[in-house]
Amino acid sequence: MSRREVEPRVEVLLDPDWASGSLVDDVRRGLGGRPRRLPPKWLYDDVGAGLFDEITRLPEYYPTEAERSILVEHAADIAAACDASTLVELGSGTSDKTRTLLDAFRSPERPHEPLHRFVPVDVSDATLRGAAATLSRRYPGLAVEAVVGDFTLHLGDLPRGDRRLVAFLGSTIGNFYLEERAAFLGALADSLEPGEWLLLGTDLVKDVDRLVAAYDDSAGVTERFIRNCLTVVNRELGADFDQGAFSYAPLWDARMQRVDMRLRAEEPQVVTVPGADLVVELATGEELCVEISTKFSIDGIGAELAEAGFAVTETWTDPAGDFAVTLARRT
Ligand code: SAH
Ligand code: TRP
Repeated sequence: MSRREVEPRVEVLLDPDWASGSLVDDVRRGLGGRPRRLPPKWLYDDVGAGLFDEITRLPEYYPTEAERSILVEHAADIAAACDASTLVELGSGTSDKTRTLLDAFRSPERPHEPLHRFVPVDVSDATLRGAAATLSRRYPGLAVEAVVGDFTLHLGDLPRGDRRLVAFLGSTIGNFYLEERAAFLGALADSLEPGEWLLLGTDLVKDVDRLVAAYDDSAGVTERFIRNCLTVVNRELGADFDQGAFSYAPLWDARMQRVDMRLRAEEPQVVTVPGADLVVELATGEELCVEISTKFSIDGIGAELAEAGFAVTETWTDPAGDFAVTLARRT
């Protein structure tokens, strides 16, 4: 029998000047306001995507392996409970853990028609193309239709038809601010038909020392990842951020249940951002909020999903209770 190798299709929904146009808006709003924020999707240029891949292999960074262990243990249960025939993955990155799902959803033992289409969606063009090529080689007969897109803008433009399962893994949902998270879940529910599915990975609240260590690793990889946002703004908008004038300051915000990753000005400074027509004066001790990583409880996830229009089918955790994977259905 000959192996059928199908080239992955790649659809680009980001417009060509998305990087400059959307970055200008985000930087104006974020750096102009208080607290000063830099939006995290700008962390994932080619350098940032490589650093993130390193993060997932750090000894202190437990979420990737915790989520992988849940998928390895329960992929067959998920594939049996869910009758989807297209898998959409938001913020797919390398789609490394997703192979476990693809194997289970294409297994002859699954009591539904085999999954026949995979739609990885990511802003990181090079990472996405690499992953799509690898997966279409690995799964002959699976239609890989990659989408270079922004999951805060393009949910309504994703391929329809079939019954879809949308996977949103890696606790990427924890990187939204509270109000953004509700808006995202609402928009996701709106983009799905009743009966379509969501598989959501969330990191759970745990011992503070472990939480902070996961974002303040001894090798300094997370710090380099967070600092990369200054490099991106310098390169794309001609800004003059001086890395040496900032220190990395991650902290646990107990009220908001999140790790807050900030860069603190170590001296008074004036930063110019010509591409955004912006001059920012920073006093010593002033902080730029770059990224948050919210931690969840199982009850909290259920309540937020219900609020958005999803009913939880089942939630799985790893034995240590570090991470949760929730299967839910659009009502
Ligand atoms: N799902 C993978 C990667 C998580 S890292 C895992 O679990 O390991 C977050 C991923 O989301 C990165 O690949 C990043 O490029 C992508 N991303 C971040 N913001 C995005 C946005 N607004 N739209 C689409 N992709 C985004
Ligand atoms: N979503 C994952 C998390 O919150 C991965 C991640 C996103 C991350 N941004 C990060 C990890 C910044 C470290 C630093 O853990």
